[in-house]
Amino acid sequence: MCSIIGYYGNKTASPIIVKGLKRMEYRGYDSVGVATESNHQIELKKGIGKVNEVNSKVQLDSLPGKIGIGHTRWATHGKVTDFNAHPHQSNSGKIAIVHNGIIENFEELKKKLQDEGYNFKSETDSEIIANLLQKHYEKTKDVKETIMKTVSEIKGHYAFVAMFENGQLAAARFHEPLIIGVGHDDFFLSSDVLGFIEFTDDAIYLENGNFVILDENKFQILDFHGEHAKYGITKVSKEFGDAYKGDYAHFTLKEIYEQPETVLKAGEKTMEAIEKTADYIKNAKNIYVTGSGTSFNSALIAKQILSKYVKIKAEPVMSSELQFSPDSIEENSIIIAISQSGESADVLDAVKIGKQANCKIIAIVNLMTSSLAREADVVIGMNCGPEIGVAATKSFTSQLVILYKIVQKLNNDITINFENFSKSVLKILENPRKIQQIAKELKEISDIYILGRGINYPIAIETALKLKELTYIHAEGIAGGELKHGPLALMDSSVFVIIINPNDSTYSDTLTSAREIKARGAKVIGVSDIESDVYDYWIEMPKIDEVLYPISEIIPIQLLSYYAALEKNTDPDYPRNLAKSVTVK
Ligand code: AGP
Ligand code: GLU
Repeated sequence: MCSIIGYYGNKTASPIIVKGLKRMEYRGYDSVGVATESNHQIELKKGIGKVNEVNSKVQLDSLPGKIGIGHTRWATHGKVTDFNAHPHQSNSGKIAIVHNGIIENFEELKKKLQDEGYNFKSETDSEIIANLLQKHYEKTKDVKETIMKTVSEIKGHYAFVAMFENGQLAAARFHEPLIIGVGHDDFFLSSDVLGFIEFTDDAIYLENGNFVILDENKFQILDFHGEHAKYGITKVSKEFGDAYKGDYAHFTLKEIYEQPETVLKAGEKTMEAIEKTADYIKNAKNIYVTGSGTSFNSALIAKQILSKYVKIKAEPVMSSELQFSPDSIEENSIIIAISQSGESADVLDAVKIGKQANCKIIAIVNLMTSSLAREADVVIGMNCGPEIGVAATKSFTSQLVILYKIVQKLNNDITINFENFSKSVLKILENPRKIQQIAKELKEISDIYILGRGINYPIAIETALKLKELTYIHAEGIAGGELKHGPLALMDSSVFVIIINPNDSTYSDTLTSAREIKARGAKVIGVSDIESDVYDYWIEMPKIDEVLYPISEIIPIQLLSYYAALEKNTDPDYPRNLAKSVTVK
């Protein structure tokens, strides 16, 4: 969600900034802008649209100077307009800022600044940072003092980079990501390592409540009280720079097709952490599993498999909801936090609540250097490589494999042959023709329902999420048994229903539901390893061990959602209004 970037060095800043912003495009945004400093003058260009579009219109990458900042905005305060796009300049024009996050008390601060004679050009919360900095800099003539005073006044979640006309660059972080790339003779400030990985793999993960100042003579990392802060340089994985589509039309498709491999690699490098997690679970008073979106759907599966295969109770907790019932977390419990990015603000907040209750935190993350990984006591790596498509695909199946591996550690009787499973995933993907045909049928529809029981219900919910994101079709997951309690009223000939119906204990009941639905004229798509005349369309699942049904069900559905997106002419990699990592609440 939104990217900020800063460059300080010996090269021309603007092309480097534009490149960095392009690499971070997957995070989601609506407008873009760059500002640079040259000969003690700040120049700025910005506009609505994709980086390439805006760049070819206004040549962002032609701005002069060796210091600069850039931004892709995901609007939270104020419409998507050129004026609201970042960077924002202070009234004097001597300071420019880019900001990621939300300033909660901006109205109060804006009023105060307006009373003092400051004007505002945008509707954003961010512009107050530029003017606050100007106010304090005019008084103190010192960047360090200026940042300290500014951060003491603003409330909210933020990472910002400020560029001063005198050639100094400063950046502060509070609950939004900010990473410093350390080059040979230059520095990068970025929301994501992808912003600079091409130039350096040495990174400093700025701690929460720290800020950095860069100028000719010094590089300083300080805390918000002005004390020197401890920091370390981490080598980031080059692998995360290799985010190319290759021969695939979209990242989403590539990532779906990587799954025969990623289901084998999940958790592989962190087996000790998996063992440790199993130990924690064995001895825990209470277990909570938290996440957002797809990662929360994994938490729903975690509950099912822990109870089914090891008779252990775990409570799934939607991260975004926890803040409204923090007391529901019992002291000294364990919290398993699942997050591909490790940067979801809601998940980080849930972890904070857990820590306040003295809970042990186990993170299941893809990005081992993420904020969540750094907050956790135990870190399990999904190890599935960069996931650029906004819709989670391979990260979901990796999360499930890890959960199964934890279950296996707790119950030796559960044997899973992942090699064979990988082969069946390959088989599902080998021939997408039938799925492509079914996708065509979804082109004109506006509602789709997905029905599943037991462990297949979370998959129904995940299916609905994939279809919503990728096709913008209204989609709803329904627990099979609930059909007669309401949703049946929605069934008529305009509706499609996907039935998740593997040959497990839910099979017969779900088949009956399918008949009831069909009797009302709705079209039925069956996802099953058994064919039935009730299905208007049958998506054949491979015959595999029952334990692995949930993972194999979702793969054809990911494909169906992807191909339906193509039919509907939506952008599967970057669905409208969404961001890959939701770093604001
Ligand atoms: C999934 O397709 C979505 N893009 C979204 O729900 C996502 O799973 C959610 O935002 C959580 O992200 P995380 O795993 O990076 O925390
Ligand atoms: N709140 C700011 C805005 O609406 C920043 C949003 C972002 O993180 O892109 O402009």
